[in-house]
Amino acid sequence: MVLAPELVSLYDTPLWRRMSEEQRIELSRHEAASLASLGIWFEIILMQLLVRHIYDKSLTSHHVRYALTEIADECRHSMMFARLIRQSGTPAYPVPRIYHNLARILKTVSTTPGSFASTLLGEEILDWMQRLTFPDERVQPLVRGVTRINVVEEARHVRYAREELRRQMATTPRREQEFTRLSCGEAARVFSTCFVNPGVYEAVGLDRREAVAQVRASGHRREVMRSGARRLTDFLDDVGLLRGAGRRLWKSSGLLA
Ligand SMILES: [Fe+2]
Ligand SMILES: [Fe+2]
Repeated sequence: MVLAPELVSLYDTPLWRRMSEEQRIELSRHEAASLASLGIWFEIILMQLLVRHIYDKSLTSHHVRYALTEIADECRHSMMFARLIRQSGTPAYPVPRIYHNLARILKTVSTTPGSFASTLLGEEILDWMQRLTFPDERVQPLVRGVTRINVVEEARHVRYAREELRRQMATTPRREQEFTRLSCGEAARVFSTCFVNPGVYEAVGLDRREAVAQVRASGHRREVMRSGARRLTDFLDDVGLLRGAGRRLWKSSGLLA
């Protein structure tokens, strides 16, 4: 397997039970490429958010140096994921055009706390999945190596973003906080929608609509996504980001029960 089977979107659905072992492995290979593509997309967004964040700050400060280190980390992760996709012989799976453009708007108008909340959104769920992937002996060795590197480096990023977000939320004007709740909820909705590109089902000879419908109906999948997001949503709730309309967007994303 290229992913732990439990992390494959169709796991435990009627379609999954009809699939041969080879077909399951094939699907896991394409889903891994889809997740790596999502990772690159997200890291490119994140690099821009971080560059915007430091633009007006003292460029020789420790704070800026820390942000630059993270930008460099994300830059190397993106190259690593790109090589993984090439290596695996699958196509890359960019997110649908409409979400690609919606994210263009979100990353342009994002507030500073919004940027750190989005950082955590992209990092914590994938991190949770990768922590299940690298120790798993059923998983292909290159994928285990790549996910291990990412987990080690992301631990620093998650800590930085959490500390920064807590500070930001305590000092940001109320209007901006409200806007941040909405933009962050919308980012959660876009991110969870884009999580797996439905092209992966066609790539292994499945009917796209049937597969998407079964993933939507899957209780196992819902649980995986919520478990992956739980540490994050607990934290966001704690710093006051999951209130009102923003909270409703999080619920509609499927990441919050
Ligand atoms: Fe990364
Ligand atoms: Fe990161």
